[in-house]
Amino acid sequence: MSRRPDHLDTILTLNYTQQRLTLYIVDIMTSILPEDAQGEIPVGFAIVGHSYPAAHLNLHDEYLPYKKLIAEVLLDKNPTIRTVINKVSDVGTHSEYRTFSYEVLAGEDDMNVEIREGDCTFRFDYSKVYWNSRLQTEHKRLVDMFNPGDVVCDVMAGVGPFAVPAGKKGVFVWANDLNPNSYAALKDAVVRNKRTPSTSHHHHYPSYNQPLRNEPPSISHLLHPRIPGTKGDDNVRQGKEICERVSEMLGVQVIQGDRYETSVWDVRDVAPNKRMFCVSFRLPEVVAFGERRA
Ligand SMILES: C[S@@+](CC[C@H](N)C(=O)[O-])C[C@H]1O[C@@H](n2cnc3c(N)ncnc32)[C@H](O)[C@@H]1O
Repeated sequence: MSRRPDHLDTILTLNYTQQRLTLYIVDIMTSILPEDAQGEIPVGFAIVGHSYPAAHLNLHDEYLPYKKLIAEVLLDKNPTIRTVINKVSDVGTHSEYRTFSYEVLAGEDDMNVEIREGDCTFRFDYSKVYWNSRLQTEHKRLVDMFNPGDVVCDVMAGVGPFAVPAGKKGVFVWANDLNPNSYAALKDAVVRNKRTPSTSHHHHYPSYNQPLRNEPPSISHLLHPRIPGTKGDDNVRQGKEICERVSEMLGVQVIQGDRYETSVWDVRDVAPNKRMFCVSFRLPEVVAFGERRA
């Protein structure tokens, strides 16, 4: 480099090409981004998929002008990644299917991915269904609670991260999803993971006239309320608030540690002021067998 060019593309070509085999992504970013944009180098990204992965960036506003450049570097330094995207809306604001809007920053505009989680494989178009790789631990935690022969109703099952591994271990699963793409991926995963005999799947809610088996746990009812808060003592308050909300919905009072084995599990932070909880309880008899409420 005979002079320090002030044009960003030129800096990219020279610095990056010369050192591409030795520099880590952060080094590359440091060398290509202007000095006033080096406070927090944006190497954070999530990779979705194994065989055909996509990486999605969550860029701070200050890095948006460099989004394509950053995406090109990520693509080039990660030979396995095929597509780099930037989310342009929160999950959930886009549709009731909990999908998101995105823009392709680099690579192919193809979001078909294959995901391997535990001993299960899923194939789907990531732009058309809900999927969150960060819930892997939660998927396993719940599936580990089920025993072969249990009956589990997974309402709003998505592509089946709970239903499919549960079915695979011999649990009888009723699963549904409103999104036709999720439903198709769920059906595909059932076949792909070879559990057709014990797993039933439905596009819409099935109507339950028959009692569910009563062996523990006969049903796990999952809610994912998002409640703003921080860690520490707030957990106790939030646990109570969540139980109150569940009680209201059920028309039966539940509190942690009651005869319904109610418990509130702090799953993970999903954003600086948002956390995800999982509420588990045995379905009270009056709810399971009582009159349908208006
Ligand atoms: C947050 S996602 C969770 C998906 C899945 N349980 C998971 O953890 O990956 C919520 C799902 O509910 C589905 N959904 C929304 N309304 C529904 C309804 N009325 N009946 C069935 N599924 C519904 C959406 O399509 C979406 O897949």
